[in-house]
Amino acid sequence: MYHSRILVIALGLLVLALLIGCAGAQGPAGPQGPAGPQGPAGPAGPAGPAGKDAPAAAAATVTAAYVGADKCTACHKEIANAYAKSGHAFKLNKVVDGKPPTMPFTKIEKLPEGYTWNDISYVIGGYAWKYRFMDKKGFIITDKPGATISDTNYLNQWNFANPAAGKDAGWSKYNSGAKDLKYNCGNCHTTGYKPTGSQDNLAGIVGTWSETGIKCEACHGPASLHVANPYGADLKVERDAELCGKCHIRGDVTKIDAKSGPFIDHHEQYEEFYQSKHLSLKCVDCHNPHVGVVQLRQAKQPTTRTLCENCHFKQARDQSATHLGVKVQCIDCHMPRMIASSASVDAAKFTGDIRVHIFAIDPDATAQFTADGKFALSQVALDWACKSCHGAGKATPKTDAELKSRAKNYHASK
Ligand code: HEC
Ligand code: HEC
Ligand code: HEC
Ligand code: HEC
Ligand code: HEC
Ligand code: HEC
Ligand code: HEC
Ligand code: HEC
Repeated sequence: MYHSRILVIALGLLVLALLIGCAGAQGPAGPQGPAGPQGPAGPAGPAGPAGKDAPAAAAATVTAAYVGADKCTACHKEIANAYAKSGHAFKLNKVVDGKPPTMPFTKIEKLPEGYTWNDISYVIGGYAWKYRFMDKKGFIITDKPGATISDTNYLNQWNFANPAAGKDAGWSKYNSGAKDLKYNCGNCHTTGYKPTGSQDNLAGIVGTWSETGIKCEACHGPASLHVANPYGADLKVERDAELCGKCHIRGDVTKIDAKSGPFIDHHEQYEEFYQSKHLSLKCVDCHNPHVGVVQLRQAKQPTTRTLCENCHFKQARDQSATHLGVKVQCIDCHMPRMIASSASVDAAKFTGDIRVHIFAIDPDATAQFTADGKFALSQVALDWACKSCHGAGKATPKTDAELKSRAKNYHASK
């Protein structure tokens, strides 16, 4: 004991001497000193979930459950109120007590021939472009009730009017005459979707869901833990374009599928976006995820929270004075209505339902699609950038050569 202490002191002095002298190799380290006193107590952990009984509470701490968008309103009033008018909320609509669902900006009043509202379980869509129906067994309606011979001309999809294309509302065909067409669309149209089982035990429905439509928990995940303890249990806040791309996609992300007409097929915004340098942005850089485009258009407000000119000041400054004078917008040329969702579209006027997210314009090209007509090219061609006006009666018709020569270096500063 005595000897070892002397040894420690001696070693310590030696080390000191070596350090002061800055000469020679460092000696071996001395033994470790005694442990310090215990630190102060940490803050209390988050409160557990407010379960009614212990077993339920214990279960809830393991996995969160879906609770429904109604539960969010009390604390996130502003978001919930804005969201309540967005298209996401109305993607799939249950028919209750034989009454058609109500929509913020449209009316659901048409029924396919032979049906009453008592024969309908759900209306698919109906918020913006078109709607389809599900029968009481959950199959998508493709034919007259109880039809024995399939009618391939049966009208089963209602299309809203499209003023931009000068088209009235009307019926069209969707898989008409097909037998027992299953509703397997829930992955993109509902919240808390599971591919197994059948919602409401209806044979025509593939899978189950916690809520119809793309509700809060479709993007933020199941929220029972958060609702019980907002500060203790955070929800997912995913801002990447991939989140939106889970549904705004059709297939192979590297290809933009065309639709005969020729248009681009709908729900491909992510594929279109993928072709653009804007892929470095996120959908939510431009779109507020809780406020759709349609409701802002209805309210005559800017339809995105960031405008083109917020980032591209140079191009906003350098435009044709004539075009500025007649209020041609950036999106008229860069995001033409190239997408067909409904049947209310007009190829001769280069006007579909929905604007495209390709953005870049190829000033040397007029053809928009691959030679086989299957896919769209990755830049907007002048057919679509210019001819919805210069070829559809809204402005002086121009030859391809005239358009090309004006399009080249369109924003060259004067
Ligand atoms: C009892 C009040 C309350 C309820 C109910 C509630 N929240 Fe919250 N929520 C909060 C509070 C408070 C915060 C801020 C928490 C923080 O700053 O840590 C929050 C934060 C959030 C966030 C952001 C999380 C983050 O990391 O930034 C999301 C998303 C969210 N809530 C979604 C929901 C959804 C969806 C529902 C309904 C299913 C819901 N909340 C219900 C109070 C609530
Ligand atoms: C389509 C996907 C989507 C849906 C549906 C959705 N959110 Fe969000 N939410 C987001 C994204 C993405 C963000 C990231 C913030 C941003 O960029 O605006 C966010 C952010 C939030 C935040 C935190 C930031 C803020 O804006 O205050 C809250 C709280 C929130 N959401 C609540 C809700 C509630 C409540 C609902 C339902 C009424 C809902 N969200 C529906 C995608 C969604
Ligand atoms: C990969 C995701 C996805 C699948 C699968 C899907 N949809 Fe959709 N659907 C969308 C998106 C996104 C939109 C809106 C954007 C668009 O049309 O470009 C939409 C729009 C619609 C609309 C128009 C809504 C309106 O308010 O006008 C109808 C009707 C529709 N889909 C029916 C169906 C049916 C029926 C099925 C199954 C046979 C189906 N969809 C499968 C993603 C999907
Ligand atoms: C650079 C900004 C920008 C980005 C990024 C962006 N959008 Fe858009 N989006 C717009 C504009 C502008 C419109 C058309 C608004 C209008 O017609 O007034 C639009 C329209 C839409 C529409 C059609 C709405 C309608 O009824 O006309 C959908 C759906 C959509 N965007 C989804 C997406 C998705 C999904 C992403 C990401 C993959 C995305 N957007 C990224 C700017 C953007
Ligand atoms: C779970 C699938 C799903 C996800 C995730 C999703 N969407 Fe959608 N989105 C749809 C469907 C389906 C529709 C068609 C709804 C309708 O109009 O009936 C739609 C419609 C839209 C519209 C047009 C309707 C309107 O209200 O103006 C915009 C804009 C849009 N989505 C943007 C986004 C953005 C941005 C994100 C990511 C933050 C996103 N969506 C994530 C499925 C989805
Ligand atoms: C948040 C900022 C932001 C907004 C808003 C924005 N852009 Fe861009 N834009 C960019 C960036 C960043 C690039 C890529 C620049 C580069 O790499 O040279 C880009 C590139 C482009 C290109 C060239 C694309 C290509 O693939 O070559 C066009 C065209 C364009 N934007 C048009 C638009 C239009 C039209 C709008 C409005 C609907 C818009 N931008 C809104 C940031 C933005
Ligand atoms: C939204 C409608 C619209 C779109 C889209 C549009 N224009 Fe025009 N443009 C007009 C109108 C209106 C005028 C002025 C009156 C007229 O010529 O009928 C005009 C004038 C012109 C002129 C004569 C004035 C000048 O600036 O030289 C040229 C050339 C022209 N456009 C080329 C184009 C090209 C190229 C495109 C596509 C890249 C295009 N326009 C897209 C509506 C449009
Ligand atoms: C009349 C049609 C038209 C309008 C309106 C228009 N652009 Fe363009 N823009 C073009 C054409 C054509 C090109 C391609 C020029 C080239 O490649 O030589 C282009 C190119 C661009 C580019 C790529 C970089 C460059 O300068 O060539 C950006 C970014 C852009 N535009 C943004 C915008 C923004 C932002 C607005 C609105 C403030 C807008 N454009 C309005 C036709 C238009």
